Amino acid sequence: MGGGIVAGKIAFVTGAGSGIGRAVCQVLAREGAKVIAADQNGIAAQETQGLLSNVWINDHISVTVDVSMAESVNMAISDVIKHYSRPPSVVVNSAGITRDNFLLKMDEKWFQKVIDVNLKGTFLVVQTAVKAMIDAKISEGSIINIASIVGKTGNIGQCNYSASKAGVEAFTKTAAKEFGQFGIRCNAVVPGFIRSPMTDAVPEKVLQKIIPFIAVRRMGKPEEVAEVIAFLASDRSSYINGASIEVTGG
Ligand SMILES: NC(=O)c1ccc[n+]([C@@H]2O[C@H](COP(=O)([O-])OP(=O)(O)OC[C@H]3O[C@@H](n4cnc5c(N)ncnc54)[C@H](O)[C@@H]3O)[C@@H](O)[C@H]2O)c1
Repeated sequence: MGGGIVAGKIAFVTGAGSGIGRAVCQVLAREGAKVIAADQNGIAAQETQGLLSNVWINDHISVTVDVSMAESVNMAISDVIKHYSRPPSVVVNSAGITRDNFLLKMDEKWFQKVIDVNLKGTFLVVQTAVKAMIDAKISEGSIINIASIVGKTGNIGQCNYSASKAGVEAFTKTAAKEFGQFGIRCNAVVPGFIRSPMTDAVPEKVLQKIIPFIAVRRMGKPEEVAEVIAFLASDRSSYINGASIEVTGG
């Protein structure tokens, strides 16, 4: 088998059909993992799978999953276990949505939807995957959740999203405390403004106003978040647990 910092590991990545999740799949595959590209958009997940290449490994799959539905998450993890005869030891929660509006105009359904995907979805995937890891006696696992800098700073128009992402950080710290005894680490990455289909929805005029406040004077690339996630997935970060790592350009 070839090298790579996550060689031989099985990695389950949600939100894999786009943006950061897709870049995570590519970096993990380059670093020797077998990757499950999971997304609600099954066609996009398949496209990601098609992009994955590694000279030594060609055992990547894609699955369709709605992370906000327990049954769907259960089926996805079962499919993974059927395919590889063991559960993933790396889990990356990149599925996420925005439904922006000013707080006073925020629709209750939009508030709930964002919490259901970003926060409850992370919970469902972590609970299901970690149960399977413990059952399979996997002794080294790594979970990486994607929060957001707006979960720390707040952001006009994003009361639902910012609250969901603050929740993801607190959830991550609790998971780290509960799972440390099983050798399963849980960390969050906290991206700033990253170019992806999610931020493509923000008018360029608004983005240009944000850039002067970023120390490096540019938005980030999905790969720049993915490289940090690959490090957290690997044994090189074996003593990092319960951390929130900002990837914001300062
Ligand atoms: N782009 C940024 O600037 C930025 C900043 C901070 C945090 N984040 C977070 O990073 C993660 C990835 O963001 P992105 O920029 O790649 O967004 P994106 O919109 O490009 O990709 C998100 C993916 O999640 C999938 N998805 C949505 N709902 C789902 C569900 N219920 N079940 C399964 N999959 C679902 C979508 O189909 C899509 O492929 C998100 O959690 C986002 O909140 C992004």
